[in-house]
Amino acid sequence: MCGIVAYLGDRDAYPVLIKGLHRLEYRGYDSAGVALLNGEINLYKCKGKVSDLEEHIKGLNNSGNGKNIGSANTSGTLGMGHTRWATHGLPNDVNAHPHFSGSDSLVIIHNGIIENYSTLRKGLEKRGFKFRSETDTEVLVNLIEDIQQNEKVNLPEAVRIALNEVVGAYAIVIISKNEPDLLIAAKKGSPLVIGIGEGEYFLASDATPIVEYTKNVVYLKDEEIAIIHRKKELKIINIKNQKQTPYIHELEMELEELEKGGYPHFMLKEIYEQPRSIRDSMRGRLAWNKKSVILGGIRNHEQKLVDAKRIIIIACGTSWHAGLVGEYLFEELARIPVEVEYASEFRYRNPVIYEDDVVIAISQSGETADTLAAIELAKSKGATIIGICNVVGSSIPRTTHAGSYTHAGPEIGVASTKAFTAQVTLLTLMALSLAQKRKTIDQSRLEKIISELDKIPEKVQEVLETNDKIKTIAKKFKNARNFLYLGRGYSFPVALEGALKLKEISYIHAEGYPAAEMKHGPIALIDEEMPVVIIAPKGGSYEKVVSNIQEVKARKGIIIAVVTRGDQLVKEMADYIIEIPETEDILMPLVSSIPLQLLSYHIAVMRGCNVDQPRNLAKSVTVE
Ligand code: G6P
Repeated sequence: MCGIVAYLGDRDAYPVLIKGLHRLEYRGYDSAGVALLNGEINLYKCKGKVSDLEEHIKGLNNSGNGKNIGSANTSGTLGMGHTRWATHGLPNDVNAHPHFSGSDSLVIIHNGIIENYSTLRKGLEKRGFKFRSETDTEVLVNLIEDIQQNEKVNLPEAVRIALNEVVGAYAIVIISKNEPDLLIAAKKGSPLVIGIGEGEYFLASDATPIVEYTKNVVYLKDEEIAIIHRKKELKIINIKNQKQTPYIHELEMELEELEKGGYPHFMLKEIYEQPRSIRDSMRGRLAWNKKSVILGGIRNHEQKLVDAKRIIIIACGTSWHAGLVGEYLFEELARIPVEVEYASEFRYRNPVIYEDDVVIAISQSGETADTLAAIELAKSKGATIIGICNVVGSSIPRTTHAGSYTHAGPEIGVASTKAFTAQVTLLTLMALSLAQKRKTIDQSRLEKIISELDKIPEKVQEVLETNDKIKTIAKKFKNARNFLYLGRGYSFPVALEGALKLKEISYIHAEGYPAAEMKHGPIALIDEEMPVVIIAPKGGSYEKVVSNIQEVKARKGIIIAVVTRGDQLVKEMADYIIEIPETEDILMPLVSSIPLQLLSYHIAVMRGCNVDQPRNLAKSVTVE
């Protein structure tokens, strides 16, 4: 987690850093800081968000020495900025990044975890180093300083030697007071992108702070060190001191995608983008005659999928919920057994993996540490790994054997919405393509589903038009303390996702459950104060769900039902209904998840919560 940004060039670095930090704030937002070099290093940092940092800097008087207590000298054409999601040490002013080395001549920002920091710290303390913070990061910068002093090597070499002693993950940027033209960056496990402009360089955790200045980027690879000099070409070495050739990618991202475009929150914008993002995720993948599905990214490995005895889906959070929809899809359409695994559990439980297994890793960010580690494990056992990712050039697509991008566009709101529906779209396409190749589906049924899939963006649009009604329902429940979400079949993962969305952004406790399983426990919670959201579209297990609604009703629970438009039966039983258009059972999650996103959004806004940056969360979880 944590967002890092840095600049070296002719511009004033401070505005570039602050703007960049705002873009990266989704990665963590418990404290923030900047350091600028202008003769001396001026460092400002504080607990809170990037806007708190800006206020803090504005409020400083002219009496101090520039070390977080004095004149706010933000000039300088070389600088770095950080927005933190705490791992080691509380989120406070002292633990905020950047961190000085003992002599104040080096300054560092870091994203990741140095696992052997405690041993390193003890060694440094014995050699006289004093620590100001509890962070693992301060250990690293002092280690670099120690090496520089004792081994009399230059800064890049000291960084290289230090990184050979470090166990863990890092993306770091280092500046020295004595080197006004030099910026050193390195990465392992955490992402780092270098933007190359005309005589200027930008560094960031992802490309969003860079895109408005240049489209030419280099994605640093693990254990690479970038030596960036104001007057020289970018030089990259690895930690074994071997020269690497930078490969320049062209960014496809557009600046407008990173702005709110008139919406009060990114989350709402992203919910409303879904007709477009689902369409973009299908674009070019449905054959012109709508008789087949083409997934170019996995073509070379498709036979492995066709022959797979088993598919294992690994993911975390919302992506895991998409994976659960995938399980239903692959089993129903392609008749391949599927296991859906939390990456964090899978990686540590010595799972049985065969060479003819296909592992599908799903991740919006493409950076989730547990998912990456689970991929490496499955790869080491010989399985074929297919990725479903949203962020182009991120770590997961570069680790997998093949994969497909979701094309949802940048998702900034921490609570995932459009990425989820894009993932489900992709899984649907994969399941259809496999079913066709494995001959487990009739051609006429396949064509019917494809044609219905093609209509999903319009149906999602129709649901968005019921926003006002959903807002009215939200108002009634904004003070609820608990929520239950129930669904069966394809609506079960939707219930889980609906509950997750609500708890993430409104801090109301919510549980998702298979509707029939309710009677084995959660039914004890139901009373006249318990809102129960039941996803009950026609088709599938509709009749069974109707019985479950009766069970809730009999215990005086308040029923908010998501139903197929025109459903009279449930309308008569429910206290509130949200109508959605009819579609194929297997495509229903794409439609039925939308009202639940809107419900959570409105409840959270009415409770005064920060929907785009909920407390304690981060969008890209690069620590395990
Ligand atoms: C974090 C985010 C979730 C996301 C999960 C997995 O917890 O807050 O929204 O679902 O990580 O992330 P990924 O990028 O791998 O989909």
